[in-house]
Amino acid sequence: MESPFKADILKGKVALVTGGGSGIGLEISTQFGRHGAAVAIMGRRRQVLDAAVAALRSEGIRAIGLEGDVRKQEDAARVLEETTTHFGKLDILVNGAAGNFLVSPEDLSPNGFRTVIDIDSVGTFTMCHEALKHLKKGGRGEGPSTGGLILNISATLHYTAAWYQIHASAAKAAVDSITRSLALEWGTDYDIRVNGIAPGPIGDTPGMRKLAPGEMQSKSREYRPLYKLGERWDIAMAALYLASDAGKYINGTTMVVDGGLWLSHPRHIGKEEVKKLSKVVEMKSRKSPVAFPASKL
Ligand code: HXC
Repeated sequence: MESPFKADILKGKVALVTGGGSGIGLEISTQFGRHGAAVAIMGRRRQVLDAAVAALRSEGIRAIGLEGDVRKQEDAARVLEETTTHFGKLDILVNGAAGNFLVSPEDLSPNGFRTVIDIDSVGTFTMCHEALKHLKKGGRGEGPSTGGLILNISATLHYTAAWYQIHASAAKAAVDSITRSLALEWGTDYDIRVNGIAPGPIGDTPGMRKLAPGEMQSKSREYRPLYKLGERWDIAMAALYLASDAGKYINGTTMVVDGGLWLSHPRHIGKEEVKKLSKVVEMKSRKSPVAFPASKL
């Protein structure tokens, strides 16, 4: 799908996208590149990075792939140095690297829980921590928008509760908290904006293939307000908006891009039935208002 944004909205910007070799991370990298940014992608697998970089470069996007694990502080520091050495600076950090698998709490070892927290929450903090010196630039008071931007990819799992994802829910709750704390502190001290995006189920991603295999995807259709899966494009467009000047006053928010799914639950009563029932209750309440006070309905 074509982008509704002008092709130069990120012209001259440099972005580093963790987990940028596949899925949502690759789409964000592609769209950032198509809108003028140079992009470094970070991931653990060389082959995946090489394929992604080749695809980006085939579109004329300035791209490099840097191997590293967000759980290792030395990898984070090295990848950030390599990014700024190669492109001369860093404007945008996207924390897209994440780990997840379906498991019951009773079958999840503490180490399994810790692994996902380490990737999602500690990894996000580590990348932010190591990126600060590159993102803060001149600091406050040196003209508008002197600092850079951090975008944390989150989820909606923890808004209520999600089956078989106690680890990822806890991890993403921490990510959202990190987003708010850094937005306050680094927004105030360094003019760095820190925001998040919480995708719903997005088709054609490693996450969906892992978490919602085939049949489950079609079964859950009736509970979706927009009756469809999201596309990686939807998340990339939200990222573009937040990264562009259009988002210059947005700080500390996590934008939900899920078609309203997190709000939804099965309709407990049909529309026609509710009309009839409501009329009956209304009639009764008129006859004996004390027995059916409106506040109790
Ligand atoms: C139970 C499991 C498990 C499983 C791993 N573990 N998989 N436990 N069920 N399916 C446990 C292991 O037994 C071990 O604990 C611990 O977790 C660490 O496992 P390792 O395999 O050693 O970890 P590692 O090789 O570092 O791999 C990390 C990983 C892996 C998270 C387990 O799946 C991974 O690398 N994932 C990255 C890609 C990914 O998952 N992408 C999807 C992201 S989707 P013990 O006790 O045995 O030592 C996403 C969306 C979130 O994040 C929002 C959804 C809407």
